[in-house]
Amino acid sequence: MSYLSGKNIVLGITGSIAAYKSAELVRELREAGAEVRVVMTEAATSFITPLTMQALSGKPVHTRLVDDEAEAVMGHIQLARWADLIVVAPASADFLARLVQGRANDLLAALCLATSAPLAVVPAMNTGMWEHPATQDNVARLRQRGVRLLGPAEGDLACGEYGTGRMLETGLVLQQLGDSFDTGQLSGCRVVVTAGPTREPIDPVRYISNRSSGKMGYAVAQAAAEAGADVLLISGPVALTAPQGVKRILVESAGDMQEAVMADIDGCDLFVAAAAVADYTIDRPAVQKLKKRARDLQIALKRTPDILAGVAALPDRPFTVGFAAETEDLEVNARKKRLSKSLDLVAANLVGQPGTGFDADENRLHVFWEGGSRLLPTAPKQRLARELVRLIADHYHNRRNARETHAKDSA
Ligand code: C5P
Repeated sequence: MSYLSGKNIVLGITGSIAAYKSAELVRELREAGAEVRVVMTEAATSFITPLTMQALSGKPVHTRLVDDEAEAVMGHIQLARWADLIVVAPASADFLARLVQGRANDLLAALCLATSAPLAVVPAMNTGMWEHPATQDNVARLRQRGVRLLGPAEGDLACGEYGTGRMLETGLVLQQLGDSFDTGQLSGCRVVVTAGPTREPIDPVRYISNRSSGKMGYAVAQAAAEAGADVLLISGPVALTAPQGVKRILVESAGDMQEAVMADIDGCDLFVAAAAVADYTIDRPAVQKLKKRARDLQIALKRTPDILAGVAALPDRPFTVGFAAETEDLEVNARKKRLSKSLDLVAANLVGQPGTGFDADENRLHVFWEGGSRLLPTAPKQRLARELVRLIADHYHNRRNARETHAKDSA
C-alpha cells in the first residue's frame, strides 16, 4: 500500500546536477497520489527550469522568500503548515550546512525551519564533498535532530569520479518516503472508528442530522491504518471515500451505528468514537411522507443509545477514546465527559467558530486523560489525526505494559 496517497508534499530542489532527477520524482509522487508543491533555491534554477517543474507538478513553483505573487497564492508559513512532509531532493552540501545552522536566507531554508512536518533530505554531491568531515558532521547533526537521510548512493558521478555521492534513484526515494508514514505503532491491533453524522428519519424523505463532515474520523482511521492497525470504519453518510486499507461499513441512524459497532467490537483493541451521533431520534418515524398541515407540527423525540458509553461499559472493553465538540468551557466539559463515560482519553475541540471544527479542513485538539492533557495545535486534520493516533498508541501501550507488569507481579 502507498501511504503517499493524499499526502501534501513539499519537494525542495537545490543546486545540484542531479536536479533533473526531481522531474521524475515529482511525476512519481503524483502518480502515488500525493499533492506536490515544488520549492526551488536560486541555484536549482540554473539546473532545471521552474517552468518544467510547474508543468510536472501542476502547481506554481515557489522560488523566492519575498514574492508578493506567490505569497498571495500560498504564503510561506501556510506552505510550511500545509506540508505533511518536506523532502529536499537533491540536497546540496551547502543546503545541508544551511539546515544545520538553521538559516532562513531563502524560501526553502525558511520553510524547513518553520514547518513541524517531518523532513527528509536526499543528498547529491561529489564524493570529496560528501566525505569531507564538515559534511559528515552536518549529516550527523541532522540525523540527531530527526531529519531522515535518504542515500546518497555509490556509483559514477557527474564530475567523472566514482564513489559515494549520487542521488538515490527516485524509485527508492519514493519507497522510503512512503515508509515514513508507516509508524508500525499499532501493528497487530484491531481498531474500530466511528465517523460522520447520523441521520434520524422523520418520514421516508426527511431526517434530522448535523454538520459533521466525517473528515476527522476518516483521518483517524487512515492514520491508524498507517500505524499498522487493522481498521474498521463505521461511518454515517458523508461525501468521503474510504481511506486506503480501511474496511468501511456505511450506516444511517444512531441505532444502525450502535448495532454495527456492537456486532464488531469483540476482540477490538481500540475504539475511537469520532462520529457526531444524534442524541435524539424520532420516537415513531412516519411510514408515509408527512403532509403539510395548516397548523404547526410537533415531533416527539427520544434519546438514542450512547454508543461510546456502551462500549466503555463492556466487561472486556477496548482502550476507549471519545471526542468532545464544545462551544464553550472546553476543558471543564471535556474532563466531565471523560469521567461520566469512563473514557481512557477524550479529544476536545471547539466548534461553532469559523475555520475549525465541523466541515473545516483544519482543527485543533486538546486531549485529556487521567492525570494529564496535551494540546495539539491547529493543523490539517490528516496531520492532527496522525499526532492523535501517536498519542493514543503511546497511552494504549503504556496501559498494556502496566497491566502485564501487574499480572506478573501478582502471579
Ligand atoms: O455526549 P456527547 O455527545 O457530547 O459525547 C461525544 C462523544 O460521544 C463522541 O465521541 C461521540 O462519538 C460519542 N457518542 C456516541 N453515541 C452517542 C452520542 C455520542 O458514541 N449517542
